Amino acid sequence: MSKIDFTGRVAIVTGAGAGLGRNCAMELAKRGAKVVVNDLGGARDGTGGGSAAADLVVKEIKDAGGEAVPNYDSVADVAGGENIVKTAIDAFGKVDIVVNNAGILRDKTFLKMEPENWDAVIAVHLRGAYCVTRPAFANMRENGYGRIIMTSSSSGVFGNFGQTNYGAAKMGLAGLANVLKLEGAKYNIKVNVLLPGAGTRMTEDIMPPEAFERMKVEYVTPATLYLCSEQCQDSGLYINAGGGNFSRSNIMTGLGVKFEGMPTPEDIQKHWSAITSLENAKYFPSTAEWSMENQKTPVIKKS
Ligand code: NAI
Repeated sequence: MSKIDFTGRVAIVTGAGAGLGRNCAMELAKRGAKVVVNDLGGARDGTGGGSAAADLVVKEIKDAGGEAVPNYDSVADVAGGENIVKTAIDAFGKVDIVVNNAGILRDKTFLKMEPENWDAVIAVHLRGAYCVTRPAFANMRENGYGRIIMTSSSSGVFGNFGQTNYGAAKMGLAGLANVLKLEGAKYNIKVNVLLPGAGTRMTEDIMPPEAFERMKVEYVTPATLYLCSEQCQDSGLYINAGGGNFSRSNIMTGLGVKFEGMPTPEDIQKHWSAITSLENAKYFPSTAEWSMENQKTPVIKKS
């Protein structure tokens, strides 16, 4: 088994001033990566900001013998994203790795979910990944190499009460990865989705205290680093990581039924259990492959 080593690689970690991003940036640097530590230094809900958070992590990396530069832009706007990538190229000449990690939280039940709280969360998580990844992807394509991580969440993939904005943004990142993995394939750009679970300021009043203590960010980072590595040849996977558990989530599609002729709503009702069955369900890496499989669906005659 080869050692995972990032010597010669340049990584951008967004939201690296705290929590998961900080630990990921530090571990990437320990294994030789040159790191752009991006963080606008705001509060958990995205308000406020300052340079101290990113500066401190850069200092910690340098004190440990690594290389890093800070960046204080918000991921949520196009100019900010471009400047984050420019920071990497100006300081280190290229971008090999992007860990889209920056995040905020503004939980409310749906009827109390005012537009500003919806928009702010979608902006940081989903638009933020677009704003940073797009200019980075251009550089990766030129270099014929890239590793991109979208930090999603079980809140999107499974659902979590009170987080419609966050769940929508996080599932949006999975959709972004599903498509970008196809567009990146021929340039050796792998795009994977991380679903972490860790005790950070984001989860301090959400996780039970015992879980908060136990679920150290350090348990997530090994998965992030593997997904960032040259050794990782997979693309488009959703990987859960937290508290020592690692697993894969997926969207599976059942075989279903195909009607001979035009079905009625009653036909749907009658065959509902076959339509919704996940027996022998399969994963499809693209719409094209799913469409091919659809042609094999057994045809049932309407009674
Ligand atoms: P955290 O609050 O400790 O760290 C998030 C960092 O992102 C903060 O330092 C913050 O200043 C920065 N940030 C926020 N908005 C930004 C912006 N517009 N531009 C640049 N930086 C910005 O939270 P944590 O837990 O480390 O979260 C990291 C990522 O993991 C987030 O995307 C979060 O949604 C995701 N996540 C975390 C889970 C957990 O259990 N901690 C569970 C599932 C997902």
